[in-house]
Amino acid sequence: MSKKLRISILFNEPVVSDVDIKNLIAEDGQLRRDPDALLKKAAAEKHRKSSKSAPALDLSEVGVLDEMDDIKKALDSLGYRTTIVNVNSEIFRLIDYLRADRPDVIFNLVECVENESLMEMNVAALYELLKIPYTGAGPLALGTALNKPRVKEILTYHGIRTPEYQVFRPEDRIVLKEGMTFPLIVKPSHEDGSVGISDRSIVSSAAELRRQVRAVHAEFQQPALVEQYIEGRELNVAILGAVHPRVLPVSEIDFSGLPSDMHKIVSYEAKWMHGTAAYVGTRGVCPAKLTARQEAEIRKSALAAYHLIGCRDYARVDFRLTTDGVPYVLEVNPNPDISATAGFARSARTSGLSYPETVGAIVDSALERWNQQ
Ligand SMILES: Nc1ncnc2c1ncn2[C@@H]1O[C@H](COP(=O)(O)OP(=O)(O)O)[C@@H](O)[C@H]1O
Ligand SMILES: [Mg+2]
Repeated sequence: MSKKLRISILFNEPVVSDVDIKNLIAEDGQLRRDPDALLKKAAAEKHRKSSKSAPALDLSEVGVLDEMDDIKKALDSLGYRTTIVNVNSEIFRLIDYLRADRPDVIFNLVECVENESLMEMNVAALYELLKIPYTGAGPLALGTALNKPRVKEILTYHGIRTPEYQVFRPEDRIVLKEGMTFPLIVKPSHEDGSVGISDRSIVSSAAELRRQVRAVHAEFQQPALVEQYIEGRELNVAILGAVHPRVLPVSEIDFSGLPSDMHKIVSYEAKWMHGTAAYVGTRGVCPAKLTARQEAEIRKSALAAYHLIGCRDYARVDFRLTTDGVPYVLEVNPNPDISATAGFARSARTSGLSYPETVGAIVDSALERWNQQ
């Protein structure tokens, strides 16, 4: 394969409330040298302003910066010519750029436009219209995956286990259907990255349920998804490829470091708030210890879910395993986080792939699909 290919790594600059993220990215879209120092400064500022004493640093909004930096280094080491482009929610400028300086491949890290996740799919649709190869899922899969109740309908129809659920819109009466029993978990229906998930999301009474459903409506202006809470282990399955996707070793979130009064879930804090008990107490391990039968069932369900939602090149399917060892799919993540430290890269490493090989395989997969069209 020619290593002279030009790859544009496209991302959309996140909008961060009290960190001036513009400081992190130079005019030409390149990441500035030491984003950490700026982030620490921002955290100190946040801490100074806050009356609480937790000096936690929220990295959710800047996670994509680390990710693209890791990807750029990996692609550079493979000999590709790479450019990072900040879409900055300016779609006409993006179109002009793609016309004037058409890359051979787009590494698509755009997750939203003007903070609107549902716009993610429209950006992928633009690449389609311009006929430029790009990595990851197409518009339909990206849009479907953001609609969690729809994903659950599809999985259920095809006999893949997912927790029993019910959706409440703001105008609905909050009455549980038959078979829904406490404890339940209440989530926004169209978010990702553990947004809106905390210990309070798990409810054990009608009053708590009402409170949380209303909180989701008020905060996110979207239906609340109420699911049967699955006590047990949490597993992630990374899948790589499109024409011949391969399931990488199953990984597990080890919750044993969490304080005993916290629920064993990947809350927003656990995922993003560096320095909190939740963050420190959750750790990814790979491979997960499973019986051969459990592992076979999980891998099979993950691959089926990958195909049903229309994932390509790379995706991650999240599971909970009941205390009796029965796996349930929580959600399907097309274009998951592939930072060098993220779960996907850990699974790939366990399978024997270096980080650059993993990133390179995603590009190869996108090109292989493209060339077969
Ligand atoms: N039905 C459930 N049972 C147990 N834990 C759950 C359930 N749904 C979500 N969780 C916990 O909440 C986390 C985030 O939920 P998830 O549906 O994966 O949303 P996101 O798209 O934000 O990652 C999961 O990783 C898991 O720890
Ligand atoms: Mg998840």
